Amino acid sequence: RAALASTTSRFPFTPIDAQTDEQIHVPQGYRARVLARWGDALFTDAEGYDLAEGGPAAASDRIFGENTDGMESFPFRGHELIAVNHEYTNNDINLPAAQDGVPANADDVLKLQNLQGVTVMEIAEDENGWSVVKDSPFNRRIHHNTPMVLAGPAAGHALVQTSADPEGLNPLGTLNNCGSGKTPWGTYLTCEENFNGYFGANGELPTDELLAVGYTRYGISAEGWGYDYHKWDARFDVAANPNEPHRHGWVVEIDPTDPQSTPVKHTGLGRFKHENAEVVLARDGRVVVYMGDDERGEFLYRFVSNGIYTPGGSTEGLLDDGQLSVAKFNDDGTGEWLDLTPESTGMDMAEILIFSRSAGSRVGATTMDRPEWISVNPYAVEAYCCLTNNTRRGTRPNAGGDETPVGGPNPRAENQYGQIVRWFPHDDDHAAASFDWDLYVMAGNPAVHSDAYAGSANVTAGNMFNAPDGMAFDSTGLLWIQTDGEDSNEGDFAGQGNNQMLAGDPVSGEIARFLTGPKGSEVTGLCWSTDRRTMFVGIQHPGGSWPDGSGLPRSAIVAVTREDGGLVG
Ligand code: FEO
Ligand code: CA
Ligand code: CA
Ligand code: CA
Repeated sequence: RAALASTTSRFPFTPIDAQTDEQIHVPQGYRARVLARWGDALFTDAEGYDLAEGGPAAASDRIFGENTDGMESFPFRGHELIAVNHEYTNNDINLPAAQDGVPANADDVLKLQNLQGVTVMEIAEDENGWSVVKDSPFNRRIHHNTPMVLAGPAAGHALVQTSADPEGLNPLGTLNNCGSGKTPWGTYLTCEENFNGYFGANGELPTDELLAVGYTRYGISAEGWGYDYHKWDARFDVAANPNEPHRHGWVVEIDPTDPQSTPVKHTGLGRFKHENAEVVLARDGRVVVYMGDDERGEFLYRFVSNGIYTPGGSTEGLLDDGQLSVAKFNDDGTGEWLDLTPESTGMDMAEILIFSRSAGSRVGATTMDRPEWISVNPYAVEAYCCLTNNTRRGTRPNAGGDETPVGGPNPRAENQYGQIVRWFPHDDDHAAASFDWDLYVMAGNPAVHSDAYAGSANVTAGNMFNAPDGMAFDSTGLLWIQTDGEDSNEGDFAGQGNNQMLAGDPVSGEIARFLTGPKGSEVTGLCWSTDRRTMFVGIQHPGGSWPDGSGLPRSAIVAVTREDGGLVG
């Protein structure tokens, strides 16, 4: 299972060099064209939204939001639908009239709330390529104020009740939508990552011990991260609404085919800084969801449903009624899933789900180097997870106090490059209690280093990268790897250029660079058209004036095709 040198390349393209400019690059014979940019109208009544001056708050939930991230495609009755996340806002870009991007009034905050979340949109292809179908009945913006329902064992618990929702069943909004997932029954999963940053306190943080421990572990502070929602929208003021943060940090299910449907927050999948949610079926048809918690020293999770999925059957409870576990990796290449139960944690079920991080600490889960996307190989019973980087391993415990020793799948202390771990479930069953694991790749820089920081044998001066983050297998079994790292192209990162997307052969271990993003950007989010002749790739937080060439930089999805019309995965 070790990465072997291959003699014949599986890659249907000629790898490209690292780049440092403000353009997108793809291999010869391919082209990349913009599908949708921040500010593009999804409805004709929002045309002309003024990006330079800042458009009206009333139109800000009628346009394509900022900072595209995870996305999935949904063929439906002849329509091509895409659901895509808008992770966060650059406030200085979205609020050009506000001093330093600091919201000056409730309208500014509403605008930021509207420009994040999720877009569901219909797209269509003609001789000029793909574009958004304006005014399609499927087009929809889901944002920080969209009504949702809370489902699963923690729904209705005292810790999720607020004065506006005393039953604890009807939260508003989904926050910091990072990675994504797709269920076998055709719904979209959007994952709430850095939800903590939107909260602040006008006054003292609550001192109740359970709340205070949770705030510390999840990073909720009186100041917040600069969104300043709490100064204009009391829902985000934890001094007034101490339980509101417990209503975020979940995986949210959306039916992209029904614009009237209410999104569902599934408490059964645990509450943490969710990266993505990779769904696969166990051998007996139970639903398995793999999830990473992207923070230094946090954990890898797995959910296994109690019920069986049957096509066309009821999906009730399949993402809530089951067992949540955390991964423990042993140094000898084996590992196990530790169940989070009242017996193993000393916590009640709702507390296990609301404070999953604390539950994971209590059972001795392995602290990881920031788990980002997880992807399951469609041709082998194995799963891959990007561990993006961690320069504090061994020197600082995580926010909950767990030590973070060097070892196992986290073998480097000053890990500025990251690695991809994979596991092979025993009995070829994703629901098995144990697994074997190895490292598919350790990123590094063989041009600068000759020790462990040079990376594994499948990293060369010609394909090197840092900070693997997004990841997806295509239908041919190639593993696509997207990066969100340092693009200075200097020092430890010399020769690595801009962030990029590479293809990996899971069998040989060979890796080849396919696409480079514009300077300053992260490449994140990947899905395909139904006919597999187009791959849609997300470009988040570009620099310069990409893609327009003048004016503000605009995060966008690009459609990548072959000039000969061939398949692209
Ligand atoms: Fe939003 Fe961990 O990436
Ligand atoms: Ca990410
Ligand atoms: Ca990242
Ligand atoms: Ca990002």
